[in-house]
Amino acid sequence: MNTGTPAFHRTDFPEGFLFGVASSAYQIEGHGLGGAGSTHWDSFSATPGNVCNRDDGAIACDHYHLYDEDLALAAGIGFDAWRFSTSWARILPHGTGSPNSAGLAFYDRLVDAMLEHGLKPCLTLYHWELPSALADLGGWTNPDITGWFGDFAALVGRRLGDRLHSVAPINEPWCVAWLGHLTGDHAPGLRDIRAAARSMHHVPLAHDRAVAALRSEGVDNIGMVVNFEYVQPADTSANSMTASAVYDAVYNHWFLGAVRNGHYPQMVVEHIGQHLPRGWEGELAAMRSDIDWVGINYYTRKIIAHDGTDGFPFWRELPGLLPTTGMGWEIYPEGLGHFIRVVHDEYANGRPIMVTENGMADPLDQSDPLHDRLRWDYVQGHLAEIRKCIDRGIDIRGYFIWSLLDNFEWSLGYGQRFGIVHVDRPSLARRPKWSCSMLRQSLKG
Ligand code: GCO
Repeated sequence: MNTGTPAFHRTDFPEGFLFGVASSAYQIEGHGLGGAGSTHWDSFSATPGNVCNRDDGAIACDHYHLYDEDLALAAGIGFDAWRFSTSWARILPHGTGSPNSAGLAFYDRLVDAMLEHGLKPCLTLYHWELPSALADLGGWTNPDITGWFGDFAALVGRRLGDRLHSVAPINEPWCVAWLGHLTGDHAPGLRDIRAAARSMHHVPLAHDRAVAALRSEGVDNIGMVVNFEYVQPADTSANSMTASAVYDAVYNHWFLGAVRNGHYPQMVVEHIGQHLPRGWEGELAAMRSDIDWVGINYYTRKIIAHDGTDGFPFWRELPGLLPTTGMGWEIYPEGLGHFIRVVHDEYANGRPIMVTENGMADPLDQSDPLHDRLRWDYVQGHLAEIRKCIDRGIDIRGYFIWSLLDNFEWSLGYGQRFGIVHVDRPSLARRPKWSCSMLRQSLKG
């Protein structure tokens, strides 16, 4: 913990370094509003047992109507940028075909309002809510997803591209493929190694297709946003070391390795190669995208041991000894420094790095919902790691807190609160937490 770290100030960071908030469409907008089509998160949430408290994203934070108030809050704290996502089914209710004009108009208004509030619009095209019509066709397991996604990317690029600061095609490819198709924790809720392997190949292919589509629409400053978890072997036994190495390869290297270096880690291919689509090797070589920056999402570390089986995956997570957040995630800022160096050394190839997500859920036993001292410590600890990397000469351009608002935390519903602003349920009233005033002092002071 870095409780003693002095408050940071803007001038501790290079000129032009962006401080932003990160969000996603389904988690805040209210998907039941404005003529959006059904998504696989709607049906996943409607299935008993998938989401805590049977919560869903139908209303979420009603950002669809309250966006101007939310942007004003962020600008008032002193943020420079807002990382947001477009909902594919809000724009294309059937995934392909005719757009929903109200959906496109909403994103027009949103981007314009960001600019009016002095917030740079940083777009993610896909943050997990696949249109149901495409899920019905197999979603990420269907090779046609690359074309569907490329068309969606072109449409959005054409409509919004002239006003965006940056674009990233897919948020956290690992979550899309692994949590959605292997562990079943996220929509579409599959637990199938073949579906997972196919998604692990189609996600980077679709990413590549979207980059090309965006470039052909004249959009620039395109990046890739990947999530990382620091992997700590539970002990030094050969089994724990192997389990940790393969976990690290799946989680931290598969997607970036594909897109940046045209390469999947052999130690993972050994286990899932038979489930990858025929001809994957040829497509892998072709999917190297020339991106303009790499985005790092980082929250925690995991202690990994072998589960004693011969199957795949063959690891299990053990509890650690560090203080944890409401998610039970250990607080380990050093991991962020580690991954900034890894990305710089192995993947960035001279391109700048952005920290596109970092933040924590309030502890569940918090007596005062607005008093989030631990969050402030968390943020400062991670910013201190960024500063060390900048001092080593690494080009880091920004830091985005997840998130401005308490929102729909996927299968955990509204119970986990990641916001620096408290959102009351059901009134949806917004009340800044203590960390907001600390951030305001640092960003504006
Ligand atoms: C993520 C997700 C967010 C989560 C956050 C906390 O990118 O993992 O973008 O949707 O809410 O990470 O779990």
